[in-house]
Amino acid sequence: TQDKRQGEFVGSLDCGTTSVRFIVFDQYANIIAQNQLEFPQYYPNPGWHEHDAEEIQQHAELCIQNAMKELEKAGWAKESIKVIGITNQRETTVAWSRKTGKPLCKAIVWTDSRTKNTVVHHEKKLEETGIEVSPGEWKKGKDGVEALREITGLPLSTYFSAIKLRWMIDHYPDVTAAHESDDLLFGTVESWILYNLVGGASTNLHVCEVTNASRTLLLNTTTLQFEPSLVSFFGFRPSILPKIVSSSEVYGHVSPDVAGGYLAGVPVGGLAGDQQAALVGNKCLKQGEAKCTYGTGAFLLFCTGGEIVKSTHGLLSTIAYQAGPNAKPVYALEGSISVAGSAVKWLRDTMSFIEDAAGVNTLAAKETDTGGVYFVTAFSGLLAPYWDSGAGGLIIGVSQYTNPSHIARATLEANAFQTRAIIESMKLDSGTDLHHLKVDGGMTNGDLTMSILADIGGFTVVRPEMRESTALGSALLAGAAIKLFGWDINAPETLKEVNTKGTTEFKPNMEEPLRKKKWEGWQRAVERSKGW
Ligand code: G3P
Repeated sequence: TQDKRQGEFVGSLDCGTTSVRFIVFDQYANIIAQNQLEFPQYYPNPGWHEHDAEEIQQHAELCIQNAMKELEKAGWAKESIKVIGITNQRETTVAWSRKTGKPLCKAIVWTDSRTKNTVVHHEKKLEETGIEVSPGEWKKGKDGVEALREITGLPLSTYFSAIKLRWMIDHYPDVTAAHESDDLLFGTVESWILYNLVGGASTNLHVCEVTNASRTLLLNTTTLQFEPSLVSFFGFRPSILPKIVSSSEVYGHVSPDVAGGYLAGVPVGGLAGDQQAALVGNKCLKQGEAKCTYGTGAFLLFCTGGEIVKSTHGLLSTIAYQAGPNAKPVYALEGSISVAGSAVKWLRDTMSFIEDAAGVNTLAAKETDTGGVYFVTAFSGLLAPYWDSGAGGLIIGVSQYTNPSHIARATLEANAFQTRAIIESMKLDSGTDLHHLKVDGGMTNGDLTMSILADIGGFTVVRPEMRESTALGSALLAGAAIKLFGWDINAPETLKEVNTKGTTEFKPNMEEPLRKKKWEGWQRAVERSKGW
């Protein structure tokens, strides 16, 4: 290492749904080194989507090593990494053994909809028995649903972790037994990765970061603790639950036995769900600022500051971040779309319409409209603002004239319509109209995709040049935890030199009557897809 230069960098491990990345940033958010690896996806039955948690871990470690080799090749010493952050796909549920530190079953991914009956069962339970909101005081029926939303900010849905964990305990004998014997550890993906990076079963560091915890259906978003009445409503033994920690603090240090020893002793200082990390990375830290990330799915988060805004229009109230163990939490309203980039992937891998993801823009550009086609991409039901786990994917308006370009364009429009639906709900919930939307994520590389979004949405789309916002957000949280570069998430002016590269703006360029007509067509198509 002696002949290598010493720098001051932050590493960010982004464990997404289909790939892991490790990105090394300097204090201005320049990328110094990076690596990305895809990992296997399992779809054993219709509606099922699984990951092997050990494979995620192995890919993460390999990815770190690859990026670190690149860093060294560029002449930097590995000790230049002062701190790392972890960000992750949220809601995906991991169950492992306290004794062995090994997973007890495959992880159930956030998109998985096998748990529809578990949801129905709990809806009934909510109806009949309800939740004991304070000793002896039960809320049931509509009041129960309301109480659940009041406490967690969420509706009952296949999307959230508690439902997935309940299914595991009910269906996998190993998980059932581990639950009974207090050997079970439940965690979201950042819990699992951190646990392993700092030493696994030998240290048993079992924590869950607060933004991730806010996606479990167990967190009280006011107290920032798991709500005992909900833990008992879902029938969990409290011993299986992790300790809740903030998004920015030193949780532990990387073990020399992982990732080829490259990060031995480096503190882990930031944890956040990927969508919340992207909000931070876009520096949307004040009330009224919003971003939408177009990855596998699309996630629009609107910062509501210190105030919890409870949605009455199908959005989620969620924790945006808590920058330090004693810091006040900042909240957000979120609209989640389960299918965005994954529809493009479907056009590529299943339908063979295009060779690579970028090709969707070229194909769609061959036509100036969809020829009357609408594509409701409800591959696993519809999330916000519709919340219909029974909705079926639907392509409607097809005629002899329809060609693959129309379908490609309808796929991009579906993305835009769903974004607009969320923004309409946000307007109603928060009383604020969005004229600008910051965007990032793989799908935003396509200029046509962005123009369609601006046209259908009727707002200006702002796309930053450096769009690794998710990784950047976790790097900022991690850097702030050790006061690196003077970063302080609670004092946004300390971040003004971060990522100042330019932006591209896409302005709406569609006549209002046409926009209105298309919007009405979309709403009719959604109605037909519901309850399929
Ligand atoms: O809620 C799921 C979300 O966190 C997944 O994000 O980027 O892996 O699609 P992504």
